[in-house]
Amino acid sequence: MLSNEQARQKMDDILDRQKKRVAAMRAQGDFVDYATLDKLIIGVCGGDGIGPVITKVSEDVLRFLLADDVKAGKVEFRTIDGLTIENRIATGQAIPADVLAELKACHIVLKGPTTTPDSSYTGPNIESANVAMRRELDLFANVRPVKVPAQGIDWTFFRENTEGAYAVGSLGFEAEDGISVDFTITTTDGTRRIAKLAFEYAKNNGKTHVAIVTKANVIKATDGKFLSVCGEVAEDYPGITAESWYADIMTAKLVDEKRRRDFQVMVLPNLYGDIITDEAAEFQGGVGTAGSANIGKRYAMFEAIHGSAPRMVAEGRDIYADPCSMLRAGVLLLRHIGKMAEAARMERALDICMFDEKKLAVTGRDTGATSAAFGQYVMDTIAAL
Ligand code: IPM
Ligand code: MG
Repeated sequence: MLSNEQARQKMDDILDRQKKRVAAMRAQGDFVDYATLDKLIIGVCGGDGIGPVITKVSEDVLRFLLADDVKAGKVEFRTIDGLTIENRIATGQAIPADVLAELKACHIVLKGPTTTPDSSYTGPNIESANVAMRRELDLFANVRPVKVPAQGIDWTFFRENTEGAYAVGSLGFEAEDGISVDFTITTTDGTRRIAKLAFEYAKNNGKTHVAIVTKANVIKATDGKFLSVCGEVAEDYPGITAESWYADIMTAKLVDEKRRRDFQVMVLPNLYGDIITDEAAEFQGGVGTAGSANIGKRYAMFEAIHGSAPRMVAEGRDIYADPCSMLRAGVLLLRHIGKMAEAARMERALDICMFDEKKLAVTGRDTGATSAAFGQYVMDTIAAL
């Protein structure tokens, strides 16, 4: 528990850190152009729980599609071990220092889900490895597509990934008199860069509608800024309708079959993005089917939107885990590095295997196919395209 004096000191530290972050954002150059690299390095972290099983399936399909580039030395897959809950507890670091150094030597990371100690864990406070990686690699945009063609759903969420309630998530504290405090941070620079990415995406992909999702009616300083800065950015995109939506009613409208197909691109602060993208993924067949791109200017990381499902491992069911989230993440990875033809083939094959043909069902149990068998089905489908 902190005294009032210590709490004030903590607030000072937090502001100083955020000022440094804003200065770093301002000093940052443009996005790395992968086409100019001699060799693109893709780091692969299996993670915890079902992570190693489903990550391997996605890696296998990516290796299959990029085989020529790997042979020519233009792409290297690099296994990064050590991003495990055991190592995080042993080192007391959200990302052990040696693992972080290895990650920083790559351009792209394919990452399986990692386990986050919850409040029942009594050791020192360890931040989620996801949240730490997003911050350390400055992966400010979490891009999450959700598509259900039969229902006219084609959404792309741009979740701000380095600020909001997550910015200083592990620095909250217990103060005097039973008062607990956490922090939410929104910066002008941080909001502008995610808004620009969302509107650029809309412009380049023929989208005409961007919903800005906040609770600016209640959370006035931080969500208020998010809304107003997104509104300013929208002025540079006259062909696109920018509409303010409050997170509660937007969450409701996503269930409304008549209205939900009107949404195209959504830009949201971190926590609303976390919650609403899980809801959205449910329409597509559950979180196990949804991939996610974490994009920064220097690095990018691709992952599932769900957790590590330790219960499946405890019950010996990890080999039956659905790899579709990591396979979808693979499609996003290919597109991000400019491999458009390969991305289109992988996406087409996934659509066939998941929706059209469904020759193999993954049920998460021995009543369905194994993760590896589904991966083989996807590769066979790609080969037959
Ligand atoms: C996600 C996950 C993470 C988050 C967890 C695992 C920390 O739910 O990627 O959406 O809250 O961001
Ligand atoms: Mg989530």
